[in-house]
Amino acid sequence: MKKKLGFFGAGKMAEGIVQAVAAAGSYDLKEVVMAESYQPRAKEMAKRYRVKTVSDVEQAAKEADAIFLSVKPQDVAAVAERVKPLLTTKKLVVSIVAGKSLATLRKMFGAKVRLIRVMPNLALRAKEGMCAICPAKNATKADVKLVASILGAAGQTAVLKEKDFDAVTALSGSGPAFFAFMEEAMAEGGVKLGLKPDVARKLAEQTMLGTAAYLRQSGADLGEFIAGVATKGGTTAAGMDVMRASGFKNIVASTLAAAAARSAELGK
Ligand SMILES: NC(=O)c1ccc[n+]([C@@H]2O[C@H](COP(=O)([O-])OP(=O)(O)OC[C@H]3O[C@@H](n4cnc5c(N)ncnc54)[C@H](OP(=O)(O)O)[C@@H]3O)[C@@H](O)[C@H]2O)c1
Repeated sequence: MKKKLGFFGAGKMAEGIVQAVAAAGSYDLKEVVMAESYQPRAKEMAKRYRVKTVSDVEQAAKEADAIFLSVKPQDVAAVAERVKPLLTTKKLVVSIVAGKSLATLRKMFGAKVRLIRVMPNLALRAKEGMCAICPAKNATKADVKLVASILGAAGQTAVLKEKDFDAVTALSGSGPAFFAFMEEAMAEGGVKLGLKPDVARKLAEQTMLGTAAYLRQSGADLGEFIAGVATKGGTTAAGMDVMRASGFKNIVASTLAAAAARSAELGK
């Protein structure tokens, strides 16, 4: 029998997952139940996707078999307290909450419920998300398959060990902001060279998108690709010399290390 889907919280990330479910056509959206405390947002979701919205998380916990926990980290404890008595072994909770470990979730949601931890990213809103999946011991293979198929409609998925989640949070979870910063830097550099801001942004964005698409399609080695573009004495080589001399890679590594350290701190 098909699992009935639910959500605790109908924010940005929950919407991305619903969009993917809608695009895949694998669920009747009228059967998806979203608990959302902010009523204008609940109405918006019901209108946009024809999902069922309810104001209390208890209702979603009762109605759904597989429920995405998609509230902000600071709201998790309040949700858990309310739904814990309703979470039997028949229920699967899929947490997309940053920094909350399976052990913490287990304490909050009780011993019975089947748990899966996911670290998604905002790119799932464009169906190019990267979602890391880590099942708790009592989650079944079918649970993992279900979550991978739902999130797979919103991009790529990988089943990873929980010890990697701080690194994953830094790289793919926070990564969209880091890439947007790079795009901003490229666009601002273009403006300094005389381009109009909208033209510079378009050029920067399409270059990022196109490069990633080509690298994925070709599977090219990154070093060889860079060497191929940066012919000796040419324009790219002149720019790469500056990038290499500026310690750019160290800056990126420190950025990721800071994000991972913060993720570890929040998880305590
Ligand atoms: N955004 C990202 O890039 C990203 C990446 C990786 C992981 N995540 C994780 O994804 C989760 C969701 O993030 P988001 O950006 O989608 O957050 P969001 O847009 O703020 O959505 C959370 C929603 O849950 C609602 N809510 C809070 N408490 C509730 C309750 N007791 N019952 C019902 N609804 C409740 C909130 O309503 P109110 O506004 O009224 O509080 C809000 O609409 C977070 O835990 C975050 O760590 C986010």
